[in-house]
Amino acid sequence: MKSQDIRSKFLSFFEEKKHSIVPSAPMVLKDDPTLMFVNSGMAPFKEYFLGNAQPKNSRISDSQKCLRVSGKHNDLEEVGYDTYHHTLFEMLGNWSFGDYFKKEAIAWAWELLTEVYGIDKDILYVTVFEGSDDADNLSMDTEAYDFWKQYIAEDRILKGDKKDNFWEMGEQGPCGPCSEIHVDIRSAEEKAKVSGKDLVNQDHPQVVEIWNLVFMQYNRKANGSLENLPDKHIDTGMGFERLCMVLQGVQSNYDTDVFTPLIREIETITKKKYGKIEEIDIAIRVIADHVRAVAFSIADGQLPSNTGAGYVIRRILRRAVRYGFTFLGKKEAFIYRLVDILSKKMGTAFPELKAQKQLIENVIKEEEQSFLRTLDQGLVLLNRIVEETKGDTVSGEKAFELYDTYGFPIDLTALILSEKELKLDEKGFNAELQKQKDRSRAASEMSTDDWTILFDDAEEEFIGYDTLEAHVKLTRYRKIISKKEGEMYQLVFNITPFYPEGGGQVGDKGYLEDTHGDVIYILDTKKENNVIIHFAKNLPKHIEEPFKAVVDSKQRYRTECNHTATHLLHQALREVLGTHVEQKGSAVHSKYLRFDFSHFSKLTIEELRDVENFVNARIAGKLPLMEKRNIPKEEAIADGAMSLFGEKYGDTVRAIRFGQSIELCGGTHVKNTADIWHFKIVSEGAVAAGIRRIEAITNDAVKDFYFENNRAYFEMRDLLNNAKEPVKALQNLQEENTNLKKQIETLLKDKAKNIKGELKNELQDVNGIQFLAKKIDLDAGGIKDVAFELGSQFDNLFLLFGAEQNGKALLSCYISKELVVSKELNAGLVVRELGKYIQGGGGGQPFFATAGGKNPAGIDEALAKAREYLS
Ligand code: ALA
Repeated sequence: MKSQDIRSKFLSFFEEKKHSIVPSAPMVLKDDPTLMFVNSGMAPFKEYFLGNAQPKNSRISDSQKCLRVSGKHNDLEEVGYDTYHHTLFEMLGNWSFGDYFKKEAIAWAWELLTEVYGIDKDILYVTVFEGSDDADNLSMDTEAYDFWKQYIAEDRILKGDKKDNFWEMGEQGPCGPCSEIHVDIRSAEEKAKVSGKDLVNQDHPQVVEIWNLVFMQYNRKANGSLENLPDKHIDTGMGFERLCMVLQGVQSNYDTDVFTPLIREIETITKKKYGKIEEIDIAIRVIADHVRAVAFSIADGQLPSNTGAGYVIRRILRRAVRYGFTFLGKKEAFIYRLVDILSKKMGTAFPELKAQKQLIENVIKEEEQSFLRTLDQGLVLLNRIVEETKGDTVSGEKAFELYDTYGFPIDLTALILSEKELKLDEKGFNAELQKQKDRSRAASEMSTDDWTILFDDAEEEFIGYDTLEAHVKLTRYRKIISKKEGEMYQLVFNITPFYPEGGGQVGDKGYLEDTHGDVIYILDTKKENNVIIHFAKNLPKHIEEPFKAVVDSKQRYRTECNHTATHLLHQALREVLGTHVEQKGSAVHSKYLRFDFSHFSKLTIEELRDVENFVNARIAGKLPLMEKRNIPKEEAIADGAMSLFGEKYGDTVRAIRFGQSIELCGGTHVKNTADIWHFKIVSEGAVAAGIRRIEAITNDAVKDFYFENNRAYFEMRDLLNNAKEPVKALQNLQEENTNLKKQIETLLKDKAKNIKGELKNELQDVNGIQFLAKKIDLDAGGIKDVAFELGSQFDNLFLLFGAEQNGKALLSCYISKELVVSKELNAGLVVRELGKYIQGGGGGQPFFATAGGKNPAGIDEALAKAREYLS
């Protein structure tokens, strides 16, 4: 069965069982501080489990893109070494939100596997939770056991502990006991030797878990305790690639048609064969796996970067490059070339890959090239370290510096050292690594208390589209302590006019006032999943009384100008540059806006002018805001709204229209484009391959911008004695300056010539060496010229020049190459040694070196020591 059919059979099976089939949610999470990526099929539905939101249908099924590369579920370092772990994988799932429970989940899983897919029941094992006698004190899941008994022989039902049979999404959140289904695809001979029973959950590549049925009934709280969820739910996840392995009768996920096209392509590009040498196989698996993770992330809008989710993606790609570099001998970028076959294979199920193929290729290629450059530089540095190493062990500190400052991978360092028959001080390296981890943990440490609930049944609703002031009730609060911000309170209200940061727009600020006149400032507003959280330094005194909540209207208004301008800018760019332009990120602040978009070249002055003019024409056109709330997404799309890849839209959307600009947007906007007054682009540049960034300002910020520019202009004109044509006056000044520089250069050259003549006469014979140590009045370049010119006339010269320039000291030492060899002299060592008299240091080559220092008073002593040094 082809992988595509396996996927669609799963979905149609559950569709028949009255499940709504939904597309995979984007992998990168935007408003969940506890999770960076979707790491299992249930993550996009977390709010349904917690009871914070209601699904349209209580039964859902999908194939979800998952990434297990950070946090509680992290498989990154295993990938490649075995045949069944992945960074990105598809999880086939069916969910019941307070609808069916164990009985149906078990019955349907069995029916699908054995009847629809026709898997022989004699290769299946199932596990159930045995209970725990720790703090949670949970009893065995006898209910699940009894259901399983109806389908499978009891000796194939195994009991498992918390590690295997109690599933938790993260440190906090929904959880519950689970039943796993395992397959044993070993040969009959193998089975005769060892029973499959003994291999379940033992990391055997042919006895693997394929499906996990989780019976969600608890919430793990911040203090570690469990509380019952309001309802009982089903969360199942089947590893799509593993299922394909079973149904396609192969022994490895990488031998299924999900991976073989990629592997064949890697073979063609690298001219290495898969399946012969273990080291090469691992590298090929790493690359085939990682290119998927990276490509899907970029398609979901997550570019590689230096922080957060972007950094994780960068690390995955670098791991792939490293394996290609080390084991497949690829010294140039090639992983991007796999995107073509990947989008052909998977573009039907995941159209975002096809639509953004070119962008994905560009980004990967540039990342690869830049990391390969890092590797090149690292190799040079490593060679230097090796040269300087005395003994057979390279210090952990040095290796760490290479890793930390230059991004050079430690395993590559170890490999290269072992080829040179050197050792790496791994202990020292690990100690440095630990120190760094401790430093960053200390910086980011944060503790979060559990919520204190004041009113349980209160709705938490945003009313800030229509009003900036409201009477609100505090429904819950909690304290958080972070190293950076110190102690803060998070407050949640029944209703709120405060806009929570989202869709690029910053969160509102403002204040709360109680009936006693006490005021608390709201410093920021954010959304965690669906909860709107207000940040304050203190907890209000009278928490159970109503408050007047007031949004800072000035900041909100300026932000709105920038948000509406962002929409107009998006429209303008598509109009001026073409419809390939797509939003790739935005930041809407009160002071400015930033907009990232796909486009392949720098914008010309004319294009920038056209974009500005386009936006300003719409501002002058006084276009009114036309807003449609809670409409089906299809309706908005039919009206002409664009949906963005990587954005998660609810069942209904909000459409914002100004003239022909229509966007799906949750942000706040001006009532009329005329409110914006004016739009001005202040910068344009590249962020990544094929992604450009524009920064722009509106309204008062434009007035300030022009005012400041005007002020600078008048100041400049003043300095130019109120010249009528300041630009021309400035050009004259520049010309004059160039001429003067030239004259100085000529004068200095003459001076150097004279000095050279004098110096030659001052040379002294010290033990057969032509020696001179002297203070001279030339700059560094002049001194070097003089030294080398004198050098060309002698083969036994030792010169030490001292000079004072702008309060600093300079020592330059020249030694004829013949002397360097015959007398083992070294100018580098000389300046390093004498540098201490001028409180500085330096270096260079054995025949010429310089040192700079901050103590010109020490020059004479340094010169005197030079003679001693020689004698
Ligand atoms: N959420 C469960 C898992 O990821 C199904 O294994």
